[in-house]
Amino acid sequence: MDALLLLLRWMHIFGVVILVGGLCFSRFALLPALADTEEDSREKLQESIRRKWLPWVIIGITLLLVSGLANFLLFNSTVKSQGWGDGEWMKQTSYHTIFGVKFLLALVVFYFASGLVGRGSGTAWIRSDRARWLGVTLGLAVAIIMLSGWLRNLHTGPNKSSGPELGIPLGIDPAPNDTAEENRYRSTEAGSAFREPDTTASPDESSDATELNK
Ligand code: HEM
Repeated sequence: MDALLLLLRWMHIFGVVILVGGLCFSRFALLPALADTEEDSREKLQESIRRKWLPWVIIGITLLLVSGLANFLLFNSTVKSQGWGDGEWMKQTSYHTIFGVKFLLALVVFYFASGLVGRGSGTAWIRSDRARWLGVTLGLAVAIIMLSGWLRNLHTGPNKSSGPELGIPLGIDPAPNDTAEENRYRSTEAGSAFREPDTTASPDESSDATELNK
């Protein structure tokens, strides 16, 4: 399972690099450079770049959709089967709301990214003002990256090992408190940083919750 998750993570990160890297390069290097080029050669260049970049946009979007959906479904089933936060973890952390916003923004980014390299008359308005729509798309991509980091942080917390399966065997025994790691999200306190403070909790319990969410 860990190998599959690692593969999905690689796919997702490569998708982001291709799509967002291409948008960034186009906005801040290609577009200004094309503006300094003669109109005739500019149009030829633009058409040539469009045709060559189109397959990469399709690859980037496919990688993101496939790995993202698989990741989401696998993560949901893990949370459910392990009963994180007594089955309330998703609600406690608003994971689905944040994911929903991210997903909708990602669809908008996919639309603009495809429109910028497309040929259809329906998306001609995007290509008629590339600088503006590239800027908007990049802004949305930045928001998505921030939301994604937030999602990840909801369950990884501080840098701790997820288990020794894929680690490099250096002959070092796991730290004695590593077993506590497995149970850290099963507590009803999981996600408490995202709820109103529980005034009925004893001082010991609330300090545990603070530790988890550091
Ligand atoms: C422009 C589009 C997208 C960008 C820039 C983006 C970016 C990211 C980044 C940077 C991460 C963190 C990766 C890591 O730490 O390993 C991530 C995680 C994730 N992404 Fe995306 N993503 C995009 C589209 C999508 C789509 C379309 C889906 C779902 C269909 C999706 C689902 C997920 C999921 C489930 C995670 C894991 C979140 C977690 O840790 O709980 N992403 N994404």
